Amino acid sequence: MHYLSYKIPRQRLVLKGTRIGLGMAALGRPEYINIRKYPDPDKSKSAYKESAFKVLDLAYEKGLRHFDTAASYGKGEQFLLEWNQIRAHEDVELSTKWGYSYVADWEIGFRGKHEVKEHSLAKLKEQWQYSKKLLPRLSTYQIHSATFESGVLQNSEVLLALGAIKSKTGIKIGLSVSGANQEAILQAALLVETNQKPLFDSFQVTYNILEQSCHSVLKEILCTGKTVMIKEALANGRLLKNENFPHYGKLYKSLEKLSKKYRVGADAISLRFVMDHLKPQLVLSGASNTTQLRENLKAMDFQLTDEELKCLASLGAETNYYWKERQLLEWQ
Ligand SMILES: NC(=O)c1ccc[n+]([C@@H]2O[C@H](COP(=O)([O-])OP(=O)(O)OC[C@H]3O[C@@H](n4cnc5c(N)ncnc54)[C@H](OP(=O)(O)O)[C@@H]3O)[C@@H](O)[C@H]2O)c1
Repeated sequence: MHYLSYKIPRQRLVLKGTRIGLGMAALGRPEYINIRKYPDPDKSKSAYKESAFKVLDLAYEKGLRHFDTAASYGKGEQFLLEWNQIRAHEDVELSTKWGYSYVADWEIGFRGKHEVKEHSLAKLKEQWQYSKKLLPRLSTYQIHSATFESGVLQNSEVLLALGAIKSKTGIKIGLSVSGANQEAILQAALLVETNQKPLFDSFQVTYNILEQSCHSVLKEILCTGKTVMIKEALANGRLLKNENFPHYGKLYKSLEKLSKKYRVGADAISLRFVMDHLKPQLVLSGASNTTQLRENLKAMDFQLTDEELKCLASLGAETNYYWKERQLLEWQ
């Protein structure tokens, strides 16, 4: 493993349109960052499994082919594995993540952190044993929320083990990032090499109208042909009009105006913003149910004008403020 001064090779690359994928964060466990006022009436495992299958089936029917989960999304990885085995679609791509464990054990009202981070070789080995069952549809294996504090980008044992998984299976190795220093972590990740080659092929990053701090680095990454997968495109739901966030009044008004023009909800406008402003390969819908998914997918039916993109882009929040507010969102 080496750290080199990394110059991103610039290629002429024709960027194809952004595809929408489905993320499983809200589908595999009874509590997540839910901003909506009305909790699910039935929080049993069987109800969640049934609902997850419905959302996965609808997504497939509507043409989605990428599905993202994590070892720590409650039963999210298991639901996706079972759905994948039963439906046996040959044209889907799956991605998952290692590095957090779900410890809430489906306890409603669980106090404390629902997921615990451990970026150790032991955790990687343990979680890979399960995640590898997603092969051969597994396309991308990601470090879940890589940080400087966890030391994962300097842990040569872990990086070499990921390099070995990549050589053995041919899948992409990726990482997800969160927090005010997403950009710095991405820059550091781009320097990581195993076997004299860059280790990371795929980058899952928060990008939305309020949080655009990674725009430049993501554009650079896109120019290399590596994969950019956008998460939290709706700022966990904060982009939908909500009286608890009165400081976004101006943004809500702009979204409302565009919603009327395109006859879609603010969710579709916000997803479309990511598609047209950044043009990543993938943006994840985090829909909790089929109704939300249908609304989200309306983003596929129109395009924002340059003027509209410029207006929305000007309504971003200050990065540190955005992440402080994100930290305060409750799991319920
Ligand atoms: N660190 C990481 O690696 C990481 C972190 C976060 C996410 N992710 C990935 O990214 C995916 C998407 O992120 P996300 O779900 O956290 O954030 P998101 O897409 O920004 O927000 C999703 C939430 O927005 C609300 N929503 C969506 N459509 C709606 C509609 N039409 N009407 C009303 N509310 C609507 C829902 O909230 P309610 O559930 O309250 O209704 C839903 O849970 C995840 O599933 C996961 O795969 C990865």
